[in-house]
Amino acid sequence: MTESIVKPGLEGVFAGETSICAVRPEEGKLIYRGYDLHLLAEAVSFEEVAYLLLYHKLPNQSELESFDQQLKSYRDLPPALLETLRSLPSHGPAMDTLRAATTILALYDPDLEDDSPEANLRKSMRLLARLTTLVTAQHRISQGIEVISPNPKLNHAANFLYMLRGNSPEELEVRVLDITFILYAEHEFNASTFTARVVASTLSDLYGAVTGALAALKGPLHGGANEKAMEVLLEIGDPDHAEAWVLNALKEKRRIMGFGHRIYKKVDSRVELAKKWGKKLAEKEKNTRWHEICTIVEDVIRREKNLFPNVDFYTAPLYYLMGIPIKLYTPLFACSRVVGWSAHVIEQKQKNRLFRPNSLYIGPEGLDYLPLAKRNPP
Ligand SMILES: CC(C)(COP(=O)(O)OP(=O)(O)OC[C@H]1O[C@@H](n2cnc3c(N)ncnc32)[C@H](O)[C@@H]1OP(=O)(O)O)[C@@H](O)C(=O)NCCC(=O)NCCS
Repeated sequence: MTESIVKPGLEGVFAGETSICAVRPEEGKLIYRGYDLHLLAEAVSFEEVAYLLLYHKLPNQSELESFDQQLKSYRDLPPALLETLRSLPSHGPAMDTLRAATTILALYDPDLEDDSPEANLRKSMRLLARLTTLVTAQHRISQGIEVISPNPKLNHAANFLYMLRGNSPEELEVRVLDITFILYAEHEFNASTFTARVVASTLSDLYGAVTGALAALKGPLHGGANEKAMEVLLEIGDPDHAEAWVLNALKEKRRIMGFGHRIYKKVDSRVELAKKWGKKLAEKEKNTRWHEICTIVEDVIRREKNLFPNVDFYTAPLYYLMGIPIKLYTPLFACSRVVGWSAHVIEQKQKNRLFRPNSLYIGPEGLDYLPLAKRNPP
C-alpha cells in the first residue's frame, strides 16, 4: 500500500506546471522558454538568457541595453552589509555566508514587502546583480585582502572574474564562464527551485524563497556536487591512476559526485557544451590533465555502472583552470541559478496554490500516557 501512495523523493510526480523550462531526457534536450539550450549557449549572452527567463522573450537591442544598465546599477552592496560581512567568521562554507548575507540583503531592499510582479522583477534583478558581488567580496574578506568594487564596463561573467582576482580576465575565460552561467541558469523543478516555489507558495517574499533555495543548493546531491567532483579529480591527480581509483571507489560503494541524475538516465544535455568549452580552455592553458582524467572516469563508470556524468562533473575542472577557489563553485552556480529561482517565484505567485502535500503516518498509535516520574530512565 505504501508503495502505491508514497513517491519517495516525489520521483515521477508532476508537482506543477511551468512555461519556463522543459527537461526532455529522451531527446537529451533542455529548453528555456521554447529555445533549445544548445542554440542559446552558442549564440547569445547570459544577460540575454536572464532577460528571456524573467521577461518570457529574448530582448531586442534597446531592451537588452536597458536591462544590462539596470543590472550594473544594482551591483554595489550596501556599505553596512560589507561591514557585516567583515564581522562574520571567515572559515565557514562560502554557501553559508552567502545564505546569511542574502537574508540581510533583503532588509536593504525597498521593495521587500511589495509582492507585485513589477517589484518582484526589480528584486530579481537586484539579487542577480548582487550575488556575484557578495560571493567575491566575502571571499576576499575571508582572505584578508581588499574588496574590489564592480566594474560597470564588464558583463556579469567578466565582472565576477574581475572582482575575484582584481585584473581583467581573458576573452576565452569570459566566454566559457558566460556559457556555464547559461547552462546553470535554469532546470525546472530541481530541489532548490522546488524549495523556492514552496516558500513562495506561502506568499512569503522572494528573498526568503531564494534563501531557502540556497540552503537546498548547498547539498552535495545537488549544487554542492561541483565542489565534491573537483575534490575527486584532485584525489585521482593523474590520468594513469583514474581507472584504478574508480574501480576501488565502486568496490567501496562510494557515491561519485558529478555522476547520475534523477531525470536524465542516458545523457545530461548540458555536458556536451561544458566538455566542448572546457576542452578549448584546457588547450589554451596547455593543461589537458583534468580533461583526460574526466574522460577516463566517465568511460569506466559508464562501463561498470551504466552511469553517466552530469554537468557538475565537467564544470568543476573548467572552474579549476580559471583559478576559481573550489569553495566558490557552488556559490558560482547560485550566481546563475538565482535567475531561474526568481522566474519560478514570479510564476508561482501568478497562479498560486499553497504546497501542502500529505504524509503517510507509519508511527505507533494509541499509546498510554505515563506521568513524568513513572517513565523509564533512558
Ligand atoms: C543525483 C542523484 C541523487 C540522483 O539519484 P536518484 O535518481 O535518486 O538515484 P539513486 O540515488 O536512487 O541511485 C540509483 C542507483 O544508482 C547508483 N548511483 C546513482 N548515482 C551514483 C553516483 N553518483 N555514484 C555511484 N552510484 C550512483 C545508486 O547507488 C543506486 O544504485 P543501486 O540501485 O545499485 O543501489 C544521484 O545520481 C547522485 O547522488 N549523484 C551524485 C550527486 C550529484 O552529482 N548531484 C548533482 C546532480 S545534477
